[in-house]
Amino acid sequence: MSENEKKSASLWGGRFEKSTDEMINEFQASINFDKRLYREDIEGSIAHAKMLAKCEIISGDDAEKIIAGLKKILAKIEAGDFEFKIELEDIHMNIEKILTDDIGEAGGRLHTARSRNDQVALDMHLHVRRQVEEVQKLIRDLQKNLLAAAKKNLGVICPGYTHLQRAQPILFSHHLMAYFFMLQRDFDRFAGVFARADIMPLGAGALAGTTFPIDRKFVADELNFGEIYLNSLDAVSDRDYIMEFLSAASILMIHLSRLSEEIIFWCSREFNFVELDDAHCTGSSMMPQKKNPDVPELVRGKTGRVIGHLTAMLTTVKSLPLAYNKDLQEDKEGLFDAIDTIKFSLAVYAQIISGMKVKSENMRRAVEEDFSNATDLADYLVKKGVPFRHAHEISGKLVHHCIERGIYLKDLSLDEFKNFSDKFDAEIYDAIKPETCVNNRNSLGGTSQKSVELQFEKADAILKEKK
Ligand code: ARG
Repeated sequence: MSENEKKSASLWGGRFEKSTDEMINEFQASINFDKRLYREDIEGSIAHAKMLAKCEIISGDDAEKIIAGLKKILAKIEAGDFEFKIELEDIHMNIEKILTDDIGEAGGRLHTARSRNDQVALDMHLHVRRQVEEVQKLIRDLQKNLLAAAKKNLGVICPGYTHLQRAQPILFSHHLMAYFFMLQRDFDRFAGVFARADIMPLGAGALAGTTFPIDRKFVADELNFGEIYLNSLDAVSDRDYIMEFLSAASILMIHLSRLSEEIIFWCSREFNFVELDDAHCTGSSMMPQKKNPDVPELVRGKTGRVIGHLTAMLTTVKSLPLAYNKDLQEDKEGLFDAIDTIKFSLAVYAQIISGMKVKSENMRRAVEEDFSNATDLADYLVKKGVPFRHAHEISGKLVHHCIERGIYLKDLSLDEFKNFSDKFDAEIYDAIKPETCVNNRNSLGGTSQKSVELQFEKADAILKEKK
C-alpha cells in the first residue's frame, strides 16, 4: 500500500499527513483480543442502524443495506473466513471498513451519531450480560451435583474441623451443602452484575451526546436493556460492571479454591476421605503409586490469576479522569481471561463432584478414634444441671485421662465416669455416640439430619426457580 492508500484506509485519514507507525499500531491495536466482541458489535450496529432509519437520520434503504451487509459479515466471521486486520485496530473498525467496502456509501453512514466510545461500551455491556447468564448456568450445574452428592451420602458422618483439628462430628452432607449455599451467593452476586451491565450506553457519543435526533429508548428496547444511562459522561466512563464482574468472579474462585484445598487433603493418604475418579486425575511420570488431584490444585492456582485481573482493573480505573481514555481498552483481556477461567473451572468442578467417591468408613473411623464428642459430654452434664463452665472442665479432665490411658471416651466404665462427676449415668454412652452428637444439633442451620433435609428442601426450591 502506498502512504496515501494507507492513510485513506484509516478512518481518520483526513487530519493526518502520515499513516500510523507499524510498531505503534501493533502496540495500540486491540483486534487480537476484542474480536471476540464481534457478535455484540454487529447486534449493536444493527439496532443503531434501525434507530437511525426510524428517526429519519438515514434512509430506510441505507439501513436495509447496512443490516444485510452486517449479517453477511457475521456469517463470514462465524464461518472463519473473515480476515481481521491489525491496521484496522479494533473490532469496530474492522467491521465498519469491510462493510463500507462491501456496500459502499451506506456503510459510511452507519457511524452517524455514534462514537467508538459509546460503541465499545455497548459491546461490553452486551458481552458481560451474556457471559453472566452462562456463568450462572454453570454455577447451577455445580450446585446440582453438590446437592446430588449430599443427598446420596446423607447419613455419612465425618469430623467437622476448626483449626484443622477434629472439632465436632457433622454430616458430610452438611459440609457439602455449605458450598451449595456459598455458590448461591455467587449466583446472586452475578445477578447484581447483570443489573449493573443492563444499562444502555449508546447515544452518549464520544462523551457529550449527539446533535442528531436519536431515540435511545428504541435502541434499549431492541437490545432488551432494562435501563438507559442518563449521563453521557457516565455512560462512556463507567466500568463498574466489569469491576463487579471480576469481583464476583474472584469471590467465586475463592470458594472453589477453598473446596479445592479440602478435596486435596481429603484425597491424601493422611485423610483418605474421598477418592476422585481416575478420569479426573493424573499420575506421576516417576512415582508409579501417585494419583494426583491436579484439577482442584489448578483451580486453586487459577484463583490467584482471577484476583490479579480484578486488581489490575481496579488499578486501571483508579485516577482515570472522565471520559474515555485509551487506558480503558485494558478492560478486556483480564475480563475475557477471567470469563474463560471461571467457566472452565465451574465445568470441571461439576464433573469432579459427580465422580467423587466418599469413603464413609474412613470418615467414621476419624470420628470414633478421637474426642470430637467432648462437647456433647459437657452438654450432657449441663442438661443434668451442671453449669457449662464446670461441665467443660470435667469433660476436659476426662479427655486428658483418656489420652493418658490411650483410650477414647466411649471406652470408659461408668464407674470411671462417676469418679469425675456423680451426674453421669448409663445414658452417657448413647449421648456421646456420633449419631447422637449429630442429630442433637437440631438447631436451625445445625448439622442434624432433619436440619440437612430442610437445607435440601430449600436447595430444591432454589434450583426450581427460573433464575
Ligand atoms: N478499542 C477501543 C477500546 O477497546 C475502542 C474505543 C476506542 N476509542 C477511542 N477514542 N480511541 O477501548
